[in-house]
Amino acid sequence: MSRQTVTRTVLVTGANRGLGRAVSARLRAEGLRVVVTARDSDQARAVAAELGPDVVGLPLDVADRDSVLRARDVVGHVDAVVNNAGVLVDAGSDPLSVSLDAVRETLAVNLLGSWQVTQAFVPGMVAAGWGRVVMVTSGTGTFTNGLFPRTPGYSVSKAALNGLTVMLAAQLAGTGVLVNAVNPGRVRTRMMPDAPRSAAEAAGDVAAAVLLPDGGPNGVLLRHQRPSAW
Ligand SMILES: NC(=O)c1ccc[n+]([C@@H]2O[C@H](COP(=O)([O-])OP(=O)(O)OC[C@H]3O[C@@H](n4cnc5c(N)ncnc54)[C@H](OP(=O)(O)O)[C@@H]3O)[C@@H](O)[C@H]2O)c1
Repeated sequence: MSRQTVTRTVLVTGANRGLGRAVSARLRAEGLRVVVTARDSDQARAVAAELGPDVVGLPLDVADRDSVLRARDVVGHVDAVVNNAGVLVDAGSDPLSVSLDAVRETLAVNLLGSWQVTQAFVPGMVAAGWGRVVMVTSGTGTFTNGLFPRTPGYSVSKAALNGLTVMLAAQLAGTGVLVNAVNPGRVRTRMMPDAPRSAAEAAGDVAAAVLLPDGGPNGVLLRHQRPSAW
């Protein structure tokens, strides 16, 4: 990324806590202009104020089309998006008995929410000839490991998000926009309180996918900042 000459703007979803907040802090420290978004506008503004006077806080519910479009109208062009917002509401169930309402809720945020945000912001990146899109995925959705069956809707949502990553990357190849997925590992947040990895550590991996140089990987699953099997 040519940060010496251009200050890039990045929008992070679900940035009021957990990994999204840590990614926002990290990218701000790297010199980017950061737009912190969250479902709750007070929380978005509070985190933005904590991170620095130049950080913008905005309401954005990824599952609500009007909310996404309103955020786009307010913020205008961004150079990068981190599709971080996610829910895990079906832990401990299995594919045969899981509530399909829980699966729908999961897909609405983890897949369609990320897709909706992408549709809102990425055409501007293509027009500008430069962009970075980062999908925060999960090892539970990795075919190589076998999709994790005890979070069935969540695992399928992340496998589908991986599919969207590959498809978009192929469509946008050569436009200057790089689309990649990052598996952050098991991260200690409200979603997984006993996980071994700190949010700050995992945030470095997500931030690295935003900071990829021109001509960097496209359509790749990144784990510890290296290509990894889907
Ligand atoms: N923790 C892990 O071990 C782990 C592992 C692999 C992948 N991930 C992924 O990492 C991402 C961040 O998760 P986390 O670990 O930081 O969990 P977290 O602390 O539970 O944070 C989830 C974030 O997503 C937001 N969110 C949920 N629904 C939303 C919506 N409709 N619109 C906007 N924001 C919404 C939450 O906002 P509210 O506060 O409003 O609910 C919260 O900010 C997720 O995509 C998750 O699947 C996490």
